[in-house]
Amino acid sequence: MHALAVLAVLVAGAGCRNTPSFDRSAVASDEHPTATRHRADDAPRRVRLAEGRRVFRFDTFGDEDFWGGTLRLHQAIEGSAHGGVGPGVSPKTALGVGLKVDVDALAQATVDALKAGKVDLDDPAVTVALLTSNAVVGVTGFSDGKGGLRTLGIQCALCHSTVDDSFAPGVGHRLDGWPNRDLNVGAIVGLSPDLSAVAKLLGVDEKTVRAVLASWGPGRFDALLFLDGKAFRPDGKSAATVIPAAFGLAGVNLHTYAGWGSIPYWNAFVAVLEMHGKGNFYDPRLDDASKFPVAARAGFGHVKADPDFVTSKLATLHEYQLSLEAPRPPEDTFDQESAKRGQQVFSGKCAQCHVAPLYTEPGWNMHSGAEIGIDDFQASRSPDGRYRTTPLRGLFTRAKGGFYHDGRFATLNAVVDHYDSALRLGLSAPEKSDLLEFLKSL
Ligand code: HEC
Ligand code: HEC
Repeated sequence: MHALAVLAVLVAGAGCRNTPSFDRSAVASDEHPTATRHRADDAPRRVRLAEGRRVFRFDTFGDEDFWGGTLRLHQAIEGSAHGGVGPGVSPKTALGVGLKVDVDALAQATVDALKAGKVDLDDPAVTVALLTSNAVVGVTGFSDGKGGLRTLGIQCALCHSTVDDSFAPGVGHRLDGWPNRDLNVGAIVGLSPDLSAVAKLLGVDEKTVRAVLASWGPGRFDALLFLDGKAFRPDGKSAATVIPAAFGLAGVNLHTYAGWGSIPYWNAFVAVLEMHGKGNFYDPRLDDASKFPVAARAGFGHVKADPDFVTSKLATLHEYQLSLEAPRPPEDTFDQESAKRGQQVFSGKCAQCHVAPLYTEPGWNMHSGAEIGIDDFQASRSPDGRYRTTPLRGLFTRAKGGFYHDGRFATLNAVVDHYDSALRLGLSAPEKSDLLEFLKSL
């Protein structure tokens, strides 16, 4: 099929299913258990959850003025053939840097054309069409009406959703809350033809910014770089963290690896300071110029925006996140009997911190690096100087990229070995393997 024909098909069919508009029926029964019961008094809640889901998936909070307006990322994606710069980004390249395609946003004709191998996956025009029809998870392109892009914005779903690969690798149904451990955020931002704004903020040259972005790798992002300017750990490795799960957070007190605050705290932080959406944000802790030189200089603790596209959405966004339960691993992926025995080991050695069923502490869920046998580097970049006990459910969704905040342990085996030696647990080989099966069952 000719690229332009594909474009017409994509745009014609896809927009209506998944446009970022308010949709009362959006929370389907498969997404939330209470929605299946249809009690009359559930209706307002379902409406709020639907709105929260819309925000999570589709709201840019006005950040297109940064990603398109300042970084001009849309120009690199459309390429010079459509009024942009460079060769453009083909669908193949987009999938290669870990972007995901939502098959439910595609018109049937597009699905058929894809199946028949008639979509040109080397043509940036196809990427543009996917972006303007909200089919690329977490990124929306705004059409210029001439086959190119006027601008581009990002959403929470970019990092905190993936797809189930049911159609093809990287193409399937959305899985909200699952971390996208394929997503190379650094490579994507690095496509920008103009990173001078980021360089200026950090007080370095553009070449340095590009080197730092290239150091992150798939599934990683450094949310604190824009506060303290620290791009590398003392051992020379990248200071980026692995993207965490955004499900299974209900009941958990502090959030992020170093416990910056509650869910709504962090949501406002991210929407305003990281995504560059337009909203108010207040945190005088960021005025500490010795700890957060970049943030203190830029006044990040006192951001005011009028209009504010963030604050009014925090309640429904929060409610939606609380509704995202941790997924259960398929039963054939672990040994049930061994996992049962492993639960006993866990209760004896791990449960003082990972308290079931939250698998983090009820209360102030924070520990020093020494308590878990690691260095303090990442903890010291945060206000409380400690690590938050990670809620462990759904571990199987984040096996790629490693465990702990920086993915330092490639496997759960390595995590267990670490605890065994650091906390001198004296686990036998059978105990270790049972514990492993239990972790896989969470
Ligand atoms: C560019 C990728 C990216 C985007 C976009 C993004 N996040 Fe995150 N998110 C991260 C990373 C990385 C962390 C870990 C930060 C840390 O601990 O230092 C995180 C942490 C979180 C956490 C804490 C999870 C926990 O274990 O407690 C929540 C909640 C969250 N993000 C929600 C959101 C919401 C809501 C949005 C949209 C407003 C969003 N994020 C946008 C990458 C992203
Ligand atoms: C002193 C409290 C404490 C104890 C005891 C403890 N943990 Fe942890 N656990 C933590 C903290 C804090 C983190 C976060 C570390 C990080 O991100 O760098 C963590 C992280 C983890 C992770 C990584 C989760 C992820 O998604 O990256 C796993 C798995 C884990 N713990 C399993 C265990 C097991 C198994 C035991 C018992 C052998 C145990 N923990 C004992 C506090 C504890």
